[in-house]
Amino acid sequence: MTLDQAVATVPTASADETQTVAARLAALVRAGDLIVLCGDLGAGKTAFTQGLGRALGVTGPITSPTFTLANRYNGENLTVHHLDVYRLTRIEEILDLGLPELVDDRAVTLVEWGDAIAGALPGGYLEVRLRLGDGPDDRLLEFRISGPEWADREVPLQGLGAGGGLC
Ligand SMILES: Nc1ncnc2c1ncn2[C@@H]1O[C@H](COP(=O)(O)OP(=O)(O)OP(=O)(O)O)[C@@H](O)[C@H]1O
Ligand SMILES: [Mg+2]
Repeated sequence: MTLDQAVATVPTASADETQTVAARLAALVRAGDLIVLCGDLGAGKTAFTQGLGRALGVTGPITSPTFTLANRYNGENLTVHHLDVYRLTRIEEILDLGLPELVDDRAVTLVEWGDAIAGALPGGYLEVRLRLGDGPDDRLLEFRISGPEWADREVPLQGLGAGGGLC
């Protein structure tokens, strides 16, 4: 299961803009989806999750799960699981997260640093890679598909950078 070329590459110039892109992605997510967030420390993985979660109807604050490992939020129709596996080094710790159960739970699951545990992920996923840009607030968001789960959403994903609709 290899990741091909990015299906979309979207520049942003602020955390707000990144959250707006994430909110557009929220319109495409389904129960059982897995989203892997990659990028350096402070790239905006948690900021992206905040934008997506809010758009899914999470009303309380969405905070970094760096120390809690996994946070769970109720959206309007979907549960949002937000995990951070940065600190996990042992396979037992990764298995303890119970990823297959989370992904199967009428939920969308976002995993920060999920690329580090790609071999332990249950099935296909959307990879969102946040690259640092020239200015302090510049980021480049790259979207890649791994596995069949997102394949039928490639066209709307390509529209994520467009200011208006999804196509
Ligand atoms: N274009 C941008 N997109 C996202 N965040 C941005 C952008 N510009 C500035 N920021 C700032 O960068 C920081 C991103 O922090 P955030 O906690 O989301 O990163 P992270 O990738 O989750 O880091 P960590 O690996 O430590 O969990 C925030 O302070 C945010 O306001
Ligand atoms: Mg984070």
